[in-house]
Amino acid sequence: MTRQIHLAAHFPGVNNHTVWTDPTAGSQIDFASFEHFARTAERGLFDYLFLAEGLRLREHRGRIHDLDVIGRPNTLAVLAALAAVTDHIGLVGTLSTTFNEPYELARQLATLDHLSGGRAGWNAVTSSDAFHGANFRRGGYLAHPDRYVRAEQFAEISKALWSSWRDDAIVADATSGEFLRDDAIARVQRTTRLFGIDAVFDVPGSPQGRPVIVQAGDSADGRDFAAAHADVIFSGHIDFEDAQQFYRDVKGRLASRGRDEDSLKILPGAMAVLGDTDAEARERSREIALAQVRPETAITYLEQIWNRDFSGYDADGPLPDVEPDTGSESAQGFANRHAAIRGRIAQLRELAAAQNFSIRDLVIHLTAKHTFVGTPAHVASEIDRYVQERASDGFTLIGHLVPHGLDEFTEKVVPLLQERGSYRTSYEDGETLHDLLGPAPVTAREPAVR
Ligand SMILES: Cc1cc2nc3c(=O)[nH]c(=O)nc-3n(C[C@H](O)[C@H](O)[C@H](O)COP(=O)(O)O)c2cc1C
Repeated sequence: MTRQIHLAAHFPGVNNHTVWTDPTAGSQIDFASFEHFARTAERGLFDYLFLAEGLRLREHRGRIHDLDVIGRPNTLAVLAALAAVTDHIGLVGTLSTTFNEPYELARQLATLDHLSGGRAGWNAVTSSDAFHGANFRRGGYLAHPDRYVRAEQFAEISKALWSSWRDDAIVADATSGEFLRDDAIARVQRTTRLFGIDAVFDVPGSPQGRPVIVQAGDSADGRDFAAAHADVIFSGHIDFEDAQQFYRDVKGRLASRGRDEDSLKILPGAMAVLGDTDAEARERSREIALAQVRPETAITYLEQIWNRDFSGYDADGPLPDVEPDTGSESAQGFANRHAAIRGRIAQLRELAAAQNFSIRDLVIHLTAKHTFVGTPAHVASEIDRYVQERASDGFTLIGHLVPHGLDEFTEKVVPLLQERGSYRTSYEDGETLHDLLGPAPVTAREPAVR
């Protein structure tokens, strides 16, 4: 049977993927940008629109890092506004389990689920370091090992809150309006090292029972969290064999939790560059990559890893032949920062030597390697191959332009995926985001906890 492709649309404006120098580049704050992007993705019948989140402006060498996006509006407010101008597409926001409280976040997401008629989703990220923590009252709260302990408890409490209302909790009374049935709302009580909760949830059961849960961490703990709680993984594993390996690893974690393979979709981040011919697409890809990784972007990227001043280096020259400074940190607030440390430098040197990469070539390879480059037919067939051969269940597509990043893909590639029989040709009325993602991933409504 032909496996069906799932697509998510990643709003641009994160890291150096977005090309701000393009004459058509728009604002990452104006609602018009979000609206255009959401309507385009809905025209392309995507499962959901996805917003990443950064809770603090990044800094580099004592200054605000201003080579890419600076400033983002609040995720839930944007998604609520988008709910009013769209009809079918899911609305997924990245929201931290480290710097939010379960009760408050659960009610905001349940509210979004009501407002959107069952289209809400939550990318639960752990995003913790002392730098982000300083924006919150707890300072550098939570070391890395405790992040997933909190995330796990956060998710469990949220699910208990979402399922705490009986379906028939409210009874209409003929004479005086609405009353609650006896035992209509389960009290949620949890006392752990990290939480002390005694709550009666104030938002009635929402259309999906609970929002779709997405996960985006890569560690073993992150993968286990996904196996326990997530409906979708947004992964960085995109090279075909690596993607297949990741796919097997994560799907293999499901059986012991009583879940079947299809209940967790894996949608790696991907970029597509199209052309009328393969050669034209390759040329465009190179131009876009050079705009994504300007010389100063490449130098800054290396500075973040080495923790040194490389302003005197030529981005078109070889890697600096110096050791990293492992003393005080000068780069702050970059997701996955912990992964970019000393051990990685040897790997980068090896890669640069093997490929004869300049600094800029290396950074393009690491941050702006376009996943699919070619004619629309080639790109459609590659996307299909990943899905049919179980390297992914689809993709989280990242456009390089705000807000037009997915216009061309939607116009030219989506119809070809449909012709292949592996992509939907319409939305059905009343479908929730859980419905779009496939056969009920997990029971939408968890048993009430009392
Ligand atoms: C593909 C991908 C996208 C991510 N996007 C975000 C994001 O938008 N905001 C955020 O705070 N963290 C983001 N993260 C960071 C993760 O939430 C997590 O904090 C980090 O990867 C550490 O978890 P790990 O040790 O399991 O990898 C992302 C991670 C990955 C792999």
